[in-house]
This record gives sequence, structure tokens and C-alpha cells, in this order.
Amino acid sequence: MRNIIQIKSPATIANLVCGFDILGLALEEPYDIMTLEVVEKPGLEIIHTDNYQLPTIPEDNVAGAALLALLDDVKNAPGLKLTVEKRIKPGSGLGSSAASAAGAVMAASKLLDHDFSNEDLVKFAMFGEKVASGVKHADNITPCLLGGVTLIRSIMPLDIVKLDAPDLHITIVHPQIEVKTSDARQILKKEVQLKMAIKQWGNIAGLVAGFMKGDHALIGRSLEDAIIEPVRSILIPGFDEVKFRSKSAGALGGGISGSGPSIFMLNKDIETAKAVEQEMKGVYTKIGIDFKTYVTKLNTEGIKIIE
Ligand code: HSE
Repeated sequence: MRNIIQIKSPATIANLVCGFDILGLALEEPYDIMTLEVVEKPGLEIIHTDNYQLPTIPEDNVAGAALLALLDDVKNAPGLKLTVEKRIKPGSGLGSSAASAAGAVMAASKLLDHDFSNEDLVKFAMFGEKVASGVKHADNITPCLLGGVTLIRSIMPLDIVKLDAPDLHITIVHPQIEVKTSDARQILKKEVQLKMAIKQWGNIAGLVAGFMKGDHALIGRSLEDAIIEPVRSILIPGFDEVKFRSKSAGALGGGISGSGPSIFMLNKDIETAKAVEQEMKGVYTKIGIDFKTYVTKLNTEGIKIIE
């Protein structure tokens, strides 16, 4: 049995526009680096080497809460020390909390040589999401763990499906404003009109079919959200212009990444992804809001062991 493991835990895009709380995909970049080691001191110690001032008491820490849930199911667990270098900014809409929670449980499962199922790991990691946003959602955790594009068909009981998908190049802009997931959930309407629901499930089915068939045009047509985006996009200055200019530059489509403020666009090739990045930069330079951009790819493996 090894006594130390280091992993890369990737950022993710939840919702994928029309699939609120059920669809997500994993990214090649950015990612967090996490090291878990067996130590003599019993219990769980958490160290952050980043500057985000995150809590280090295990119960209050996203990775810690997920690990404690896993350790409840392990007999005679040794003392553990988790060192986290967050490179995915918390509150970016890029699944920062899911990377911490999923990374921690995947690392522990490998380190302790325990045969947990993917469903078990998702369940443990959701305890971390509860600490982060007050809600146990799995649409970031699942692609982070499994890679690729994933569907949560049901959360109770948990039923997760990994979807085939074509090669995709993804452009992201992260305007440096804060949108809390809890606030972005609070503002949503609790009821949906039937005609809106019909539009939405047509798009969700179209998007899933588009991924499975590798049909870029169908993916693009289905990246529409009649329910969540009209409400949440108000929190993101420049959103409509980013969308318009990105699609004019050739993006298949896109929208709010998770609960925002990041905006993502899916593209067929790297040239288009770079052209879209220029449009995104142009919008936020004009508005005068600081931003960070990424041009990255669909990550098909999920969490990777470095050593
Ligand atoms: N599905 C969640 C939401 C993702 O949109 O609130 C949060 O990262």
C-alpha cells in the first residue's frame, strides 16, 4: 500500500446551459493539485498552500467534509494529511468546490486501497458541495471524477451516466466579479410553465443526442436555456454581448458556466476557440471589468494521479 498520493483534480462546467443540475463536463484546465498522505497523528489535517483563506477545520472545509463522509465507511482509517493547492478560483463557476471534494475522495479511495464505486464517491463528495453551497448537487462532481460529459439521471437514488462526446475545444471567460452559488440559486423561480418545460426538455434531449452522435450542429442548436439563463444572466455584465460575439466568431454555443460568473463556449476546433477568446477579451476590456480567459479541451479522464 502506498502512503502518499498526488492528483490533479479538474475544473468542470455544470448545467451545460439547458441541463440545470443534471449535465456537466470536465476540462483539461484549470485544475487543483492535491496531496494526501498517511501520517502518524490520528485524525485529518488540512493545509491550503493557496491564498484563498479557506477554512481548514475538516467539517467546514469542502474537501474535509467529503473526506469525513468517506472515512465514516472505512474501518481503522489511519491519520491523514491533505495538502491542497487550489488553482481553480472559488466562486468562479468552474466547479472549484467539486474539484476539492471529488479530488479528496478519489485520492483517499486510491490511497487506502478501498474499492468504493463511482456512486459511493459521488455521494461522499456531495457532502463537500453541501458545505460550499448548502445543496447536495452532483453535476460538477460527476464529470470531475469520471471525465467527459456526464448526466445525472436521478440523484435519489443516484443514477449517473457517462456520455460519449466528440472532441471539443472550450473557451471560457471569468469576469472577476463575485456570484455566490447560493444567491444564484435563491433568485430562481420555483415553478416552470409547461411550454417552457417542453422547450427545455427538447433541448436537453437534443444536447444528449448531439454529444452521443458527435453532431456539432445539433449540440449548437440545443445549447439554449429558456428557464435559468434569463434570470441568472442579469448578474453577469456583458453576458449577452459575449454570447452574440462568440457565436458570430463561430462558437457552436454556450452560456453561463455553473452558477457563473464564468461564461463558456463550445467550439469545433482550436482556431475558432482562439477567435472566440479574442471576442470575450474585447467585451470585458470595453466594459472595464478584469477577467481571465482559458482556451482548453474536454477532459475525458477526470481526476489524474500524478504520483
Ligand atoms: N447546478 C449548479 C447550479 C451548479 O447551477 O446552481 C453550481 O456550480
